[in-house]
Amino acid sequence: MNMEEGKLKLEWAREHMPVLKEVRHRFMQEKPFDEVKIGMALHVEAKTGVLAMTLAEGGAKVRLASCNPLSTDDDVVAALRDAGMEVYARKWESREEYYENLYQVLEMKPDIIIDDGGDLTTLLHTEYRDMEVWGGNEETTTGVIRLRNMERRGILRFPMFDVNDAKMKHLFDNRYGTGQSTLDGIMTATNLVIAGKTVVVAGYGWCGRGIAMRMRGMGADVIVTEIDPVKAIEARMDGFRVMKMLDAMVQADFVVTATGMKDVIREEHFLVAKDGCIFANAGHFDNEVSREDLEKIAESKRKVRRYVDEYVVNGKKLYLLGEGRLINLAAGQGHPAEIMDMSFAIQALTAEYIAKNHETLETKVYPVPRDIDDMVARLKLKAMGIEIDQLNEVQKKYAEEWKEGT
Ligand code: ADE
Repeated sequence: MNMEEGKLKLEWAREHMPVLKEVRHRFMQEKPFDEVKIGMALHVEAKTGVLAMTLAEGGAKVRLASCNPLSTDDDVVAALRDAGMEVYARKWESREEYYENLYQVLEMKPDIIIDDGGDLTTLLHTEYRDMEVWGGNEETTTGVIRLRNMERRGILRFPMFDVNDAKMKHLFDNRYGTGQSTLDGIMTATNLVIAGKTVVVAGYGWCGRGIAMRMRGMGADVIVTEIDPVKAIEARMDGFRVMKMLDAMVQADFVVTATGMKDVIREEHFLVAKDGCIFANAGHFDNEVSREDLEKIAESKRKVRRYVDEYVVNGKKLYLLGEGRLINLAAGQGHPAEIMDMSFAIQALTAEYIAKNHETLETKVYPVPRDIDDMVARLKLKAMGIEIDQLNEVQKKYAEEWKEGT
């Protein structure tokens, strides 16, 4: 743990998050969270630290835990604690510690929660089901799937906002963020070349699209696997080969999962994989590549690099990166700061919306208000130094007409 290093990481992230900086300046003046308690379960690294401090500067009392046992940056934890932030997270924490830390967040009795993946929200529907909460935000696809299941079954207890599906979140974070940071994680973990390799990308959602695009950019021959026929056609027309996982597996040098589904890679796939095949997961949970199956069929296992476990299966060496946890944060540094700038500006502004409107919100999953998405887009464009055209009055009128020639 190196606190000074953590401070520098926070400073670097802050410098590269101009939209959040504008939000922070307004929050410092208006204090929209005066006396409001915000409980957060996010990946505890520099960009998240900037979000937590932004909320605190807006008057909130904040507690922060990790949403994944392997994604914490201990230097940043030390720097945040030094700045007076209540942080409960440690890299390589056990499952027990992970839940202990989530409990610590809930023990503050938060008014608002900010969750990534849904574990904090789930605790509020099981062990902490009597605790009152105004509402919360969910950051990621997996968490939103869980929320929608709760809503459908009628068990959701308080309003939740689907931050993931805001345009200024998923179009950039899921695609360009995951695309870049997954490569960062794989390259850091392995120090191997991508060019000339066959890379299988499982799932062609926004994350899979980003990974496939960037892998191709690095010179890989990319195969996409899908279960959705529309996305499969899209992948094909984007120029990728598309086939079943079993057929893809025999050709793969790298396999990257980004599906949100469990057991995407299982025993039958490991048995046909090539000697030396490398498996990485970019999805939220560590169940996309079945470590259980790998452990069951492996003759031996050993750690060969910090983030690489070697399993010998039928005499072949198969490698699992970062214990199958999301590789962009386990071995990489998470999404670039300029990307998290947009996602976390949406988070901060939606939390403010909950603080101001919680008395009239219903118990359901809400989209992020359009105004917030638009505001973040305008601020980002300005920060990027880009000016765009506007419709003139005649064009605005034309856009509202329905009759030809008017
Ligand atoms: N940094 C903080 N949260 C992150 C996320 N959900 N994905 C990637 N990097 C992050």
